[in-house]
Amino acid sequence: VNRVFSGIQPTGHLHLGNYLGAIIKFIELQKTHDCLYCVVDLHAITVAQNPDELRAHIRELTAAYIACGIDYEKQIIFNQSQVSGHAELAWVLNCVARVGWLNRMTQFKEKAGKDRENASVGLYDYPILMAADILLYKATHVPVGEDQKQHLELARDIAQKFNLDFASAIAAHGFEDAFFPLPEPLIQGPAQRVMSLRDGTKKMSKSDPSDNSRINLSDDAEAIAQKIRKAKTDPEALPSEVEGLAKRPEAENLVGIYAALIGETKADVLKTFGGGNFSTFKTALVDLAVDKLGPIGAEMKRLKAETAFIDQVLVNGATRARALAEPHMAAVKDIMGFVR
Ligand code: TYM
Repeated sequence: VNRVFSGIQPTGHLHLGNYLGAIIKFIELQKTHDCLYCVVDLHAITVAQNPDELRAHIRELTAAYIACGIDYEKQIIFNQSQVSGHAELAWVLNCVARVGWLNRMTQFKEKAGKDRENASVGLYDYPILMAADILLYKATHVPVGEDQKQHLELARDIAQKFNLDFASAIAAHGFEDAFFPLPEPLIQGPAQRVMSLRDGTKKMSKSDPSDNSRINLSDDAEAIAQKIRKAKTDPEALPSEVEGLAKRPEAENLVGIYAALIGETKADVLKTFGGGNFSTFKTALVDLAVDKLGPIGAEMKRLKAETAFIDQVLVNGATRARALAEPHMAAVKDIMGFVR
């Protein structure tokens, strides 16, 4: 079976990078695959969280999933902490993965910064929990943005090492050789790495102090329009060919955003706008962005008042996720030699 798993951290406002790098693909994949879309609250606590804010962010992300069009009845939307298998499998995989593998993770180095001795152990271990998220469901496909590529490679290495280390136990219990399928990252499209609107060399992120650097999914039409109008550009006209975007990070970013929002390639977009100036292009981009994102923001706002409904979606999703996870976790225990 083909099974999709992906997750987003409930650590603040969702932005256009999350939407184009991940959520837009979640929506597409649900047409053809069984999907689990997780609110990874256990990952969120790898850095300090205020409990009241965390609770609000979990609900906000759930509302965003629904507002963006994930079918919560057909697919599974849930929060990680309600399914104990994530933490349980992470422990087992901690004992499969090697310290040297984690030491190569660039995201830890970025997030821990200079004061690495003071980072939480959880932040260091983060990629192992992420591997557990995926492998707990034997997911085959994982849609993510480009920044998660290294973590996905690690998840594949862990799956492979588990399959090899325990090959004889896996066979003895009558499971397939590849007990854990090697999860395939889905990192495609014109916006795998959306950049800051203020600096085309920096990733658009929740943690950028400037709100003008990102478009939040909760922004209203006015805010979206203002941020795009203020977005940094260069003085040249738009090129007619994709090659002409090289060394023009801001132009490349805006063209990529337009392409991803409308579902075309950058080359298609340049066929329409190449040779023109930025102000014409930005006007079109504002219209497109408001058209696509406006209804999502409005629906998120409406769902904000529906706490009981949101919590019920998560409870239902967790029940269904648990039913998928439990036989896999039981099999892992048998393979490891645990008595149950
Ligand atoms: P997180 O919460 O940082 O980001 C969620 C998703 O958004 C993508 N993304 C971007 N894509 C393009 N341009 C950007 N500027 C941009 N910023 C963020 C991310 O690549 C991601 O797909 N570790 C994950 C969460 C996670 C997960 C998992 C993902 C936990 N377990 C299992 C997949 C499978 C993360 O921190 O995402």
